[in-house]
Amino acid sequence: MGPKGWPGVVYHEGGIEHRLPTEVDRDRKGPAGKYGTGFLNPAMAGNRTRSVLMLEHIGKTVLGEVKKIQILDALCATGIRTRRWLEETSQDVSSRLRVKMCDMDEEALEWARSNLENDDLKKNVVVIQGDARKEILRQGWHWIDLDPYGSPVPFLDLAMQATARRSVISISATDTAALSGSSPGPLRRRYGARVHMDGLKHDSGLRVLLASAAKAAARHDRVIRPLLSIWDSHHLRVTILVERSKMGASAVDANLGWRVASPNDSIVDSSIQAGLLPEHDSGSRPMHVMLPLNAYPNLNAGVSGPLWTGDIGDPDVMASMSETAAEEICKFSDPEMNLKEVRRAKRAVKRICDEGKAIHGRHLVITDALPSFVGGGDPPSPTKMAETLRGEGFCAEVSRYAEPSFRTDAPWSAVLQAFMSLN
Ligand SMILES: C[S@@+](CC[C@H](N)C(=O)[O-])C[C@H]1O[C@@H](n2cnc3c(N)ncnc32)[C@H](O)[C@@H]1O
Repeated sequence: MGPKGWPGVVYHEGGIEHRLPTEVDRDRKGPAGKYGTGFLNPAMAGNRTRSVLMLEHIGKTVLGEVKKIQILDALCATGIRTRRWLEETSQDVSSRLRVKMCDMDEEALEWARSNLENDDLKKNVVVIQGDARKEILRQGWHWIDLDPYGSPVPFLDLAMQATARRSVISISATDTAALSGSSPGPLRRRYGARVHMDGLKHDSGLRVLLASAAKAAARHDRVIRPLLSIWDSHHLRVTILVERSKMGASAVDANLGWRVASPNDSIVDSSIQAGLLPEHDSGSRPMHVMLPLNAYPNLNAGVSGPLWTGDIGDPDVMASMSETAAEEICKFSDPEMNLKEVRRAKRAVKRICDEGKAIHGRHLVITDALPSFVGGGDPPSPTKMAETLRGEGFCAEVSRYAEPSFRTDAPWSAVLQAFMSLN
């Protein structure tokens, strides 16, 4: 016997068929809505696709030796994320998953339990109705997924206390107005930060979220390493590796600081001295630079932070998010359905693999902002800018970002030269 309304309607995502009480528009964009009694936001499909690929990669690398990977799908709703992990990862990974699914909404969980009946690996899943804030602390986890409505802040300290020696935490945030600086009050209250609202506001928002995670980790003698940070229209998602290290936790400030727009010469020098800008940028005036936490810049002058100043992704993890890998997880026998899902899955990872090659680059350049910054010319194509810089021997890749942009390790002078040569 299933929940009221079972078997409902079929919803296809990735490689699975999932049942929901009412029809949802698969291509719907934007924030959460509530469909019937069970909740599922189709706009989060790409988020879940990346989560499957991430688990596949981490399950074979960082957690490759772990015989039983203890996972908490802390806010699971109808359980589609867990089902996709079980059905779409390779047998080597899926057979080692031991998942606890938790949600407060009993009706959503009834749909989750009935949906799970279709999965051979359901024996490795426990479904719990309750408050995730309690469940998190019940044991140590290798993997915690936090996908709340709104801000993840209430869960961060709890999750950090409940990690194993090495664990992964994936964090979604839908309080985008706060994190991108358009709601400064909530941004200050929740994250203790400010964000300057220029073209980099989304990247700054991701870095503010990473800084919050890093500080929460440090409070519990842990350090973080960002694996993937994505801004996806109505939400942000960061996935981090968390490791125990008292020494690392004490040095958390080394990866925290500020972003300054239109810096003067002395700010550029300070950034270089702090190792946040390469020496080869000496004498130039980039559009943005980072400063260390103890630089205390003038907060009225285009400053964002405190934020994470280190890399926001891991090149190996990002390389694993290829379009081929995304295609492989869609296994529908119906060719028409398969084609649609393959197209969506590829879109979910577009550019990530290539951007990983330049993720260490200090410049994320919004191409539409270049003409006004330089004082003339037309906005160049990010693809052409990246090609030109690669031709000069630098790493440069088009970025997966809210604005047309590219990431590069080239000196700012080379970025300007490439811009001039294309105009
Ligand atoms: C955004 S939805 C989760 C979507 C789901 N992860 C997915 O991919 O389909 C947020 C869920 O969190 C649940 N929730 C909110 N606060 C909770 C809490 N403190 N403990 C457990 N569940 C909670 C809600 O009932 C809702 O189902």
